[in-house]
Amino acid sequence: MVICLRLARRVSRRLRSVTFDNMKHRAVLCFSLEAEWLLWQHGAMASASGITLVIPAELYLADYAGALARGWSPDNVRGAEAAREELADIERDPAEFIRGKADDREAKGPPFKMPDGSFSRRIPGIIRWLWDGAFCGSIGFRWQPGTEALPAHVLGHIGYAVVPWKRGRGYARTALAFMLDEARAEGLAYVELTTDPDNPASQKVIMGNGGFLVERFQKPAQYGVGLQNLRYRIMLPRPGTPVP
Ligand SMILES: CC(C)(COP(=O)(O)OP(=O)(O)OC[C@H]1O[C@@H](n2cnc3c(N)ncnc32)[C@H](O)[C@@H]1OP(=O)(O)O)[C@@H](O)C(=O)NCCC(=O)NCCS
Repeated sequence: MVICLRLARRVSRRLRSVTFDNMKHRAVLCFSLEAEWLLWQHGAMASASGITLVIPAELYLADYAGALARGWSPDNVRGAEAAREELADIERDPAEFIRGKADDREAKGPPFKMPDGSFSRRIPGIIRWLWDGAFCGSIGFRWQPGTEALPAHVLGHIGYAVVPWKRGRGYARTALAFMLDEARAEGLAYVELTTDPDNPASQKVIMGNGGFLVERFQKPAQYGVGLQNLRYRIMLPRPGTPVP
C-alpha cells in the first residue's frame, strides 16, 4: 500500500512536470515511469540510507541541472566555473551532455581541464549519480587498468560531492561503499582518495569505509602553488581473504 501511494505521488508529480507537445515526450515519459519503478525497487534493496547510484541519463537531467543552478558543482576543484560550463553544455545539447557522462572504460573521452586551465590526459573512468527519488550528488571512479598507480595529476581514484541540502544523511558514505565494489570488480587491491586537510566531513566518509591516512603531500602545480593534501587508502580484500 505504502509502495503504491509513493509511486502514485511520483507519477502525478511527473505528469504535472512534463509538457506533452509531441509523441517523443510521451515515449520518454513512459520510459521514465518504468525506469523509476525499477529504480525504486532496486534502490529500496540497494541502500539502507535510501540512495542508489544511477548511471547518468536524460531521465535525471532536469534535476541535475537544477542542482547546478542552485550552486552545487560536481567538480570539487574547479567548483562554480565547472558548474557554469556544464549548465551551458546541457542547454546546448542535453543528449551530448549525457553521452559525455557515459562510462569511459577505455579513456576515449577528451583531455580534462585542470584548475590552471591546462589539459591533462584522461584515464578510464565512470560516473554515477546519487538518487533518492531526486538528484543528491555525484561520485566518480577513475583508474589505470592493471595497476593501483595513478598519474600524478589525478588526485585519487574516487571523488564525490553531495548537494548541500542533502548532506549529513550518510549519502556520501553509502555511495563510496557502492563505488568500492566497482573498484574491486576492476581488480584493484586498494584505492586512494585525497582530501583537503580542512575537510573533516570527507575524511570521515573515507574512514567510515575503512580508509586510513597514508601521507600529507603537496598537490601538483596544476592545482595551485604550495597546496597541501591528505592521501588516504582503502584496502579492497577479495572475499574470503583474511584482513591483516
Ligand atoms: C564531503 C561530503 C561529500 C560529505 O557528504 P555527506 O553525504 O554529508 O556525508 P555523510 O553524511 O555520508 O557523512 C559525513 C560525515 O562527516 C561528518 N561531518 C559533516 N560535516 C562535518 C564537519 N563540518 N565537521 C566534522 N564532521 C562533519 C558527519 O557527521 C558524518 O560523520 P559520521 O559518519 O561519523 O556520522 C559533502 O560534505 C560534500 O559534498 N562536500 C563538498 C565536496 C567535497 O568536499 N567532496 C569531497 C572531496 S575529497
